[in-house]
Amino acid sequence: MNRTLVIVKPDGMERGLAGEIVGRLERKGLRLVAAELRTIPRADALRHYAEHEGKPFFEDLVAFITRSPALLMVVEGPDDETYAVVRTLMGATDPKKAAPGTIRGDLAVQMTENLVHGSDSHESARREIEIFFPGLG
Ligand code: RTP
Ligand code: MG
Repeated sequence: MNRTLVIVKPDGMERGLAGEIVGRLERKGLRLVAAELRTIPRADALRHYAEHEGKPFFEDLVAFITRSPALLMVVEGPDDETYAVVRTLMGATDPKKAAPGTIRGDLAVQMTENLVHGSDSHESARREIEIFFPGLG
């Protein structure tokens, strides 16, 4: 699987950072296969973040990801490690701990508003692409 799902989250769109984030992916050597600006429906957010259901931050996470338009993308790379390449570019989940040079390390400070989502495995990539872009996974 050489494709992965990437989301510029609502905070990234609100701050005008879509170009910066997409540019980093493209300069790395990844390519957009599909992209759409969409306010994520609650039902899709519940499916997407199903692994976190029941955790204390779950409702805040769903409210955040659905609060305004997000840029949903399917991104492709030359081999089957695309999801891992994106995760490296993103940096650690908590932007306070993310390394300089990464998207979160350079551009964010708050755990809840960490700008970008990337699938965390081949299985997640396939599952998540199917939620937002059926047929492209
Ligand atoms: P994402 O799924 O959004 O790409 O982020 P991730 O893989 O780096 O992190 P994940 O563990 O999947 O968590 C999803 C989002 O939930 C928020 N979170 N808050 N308060 C907390 O302990 C906590 N843990 C996670 C973060 O906003 C994270 O991006
Ligand atoms: Mg995750």
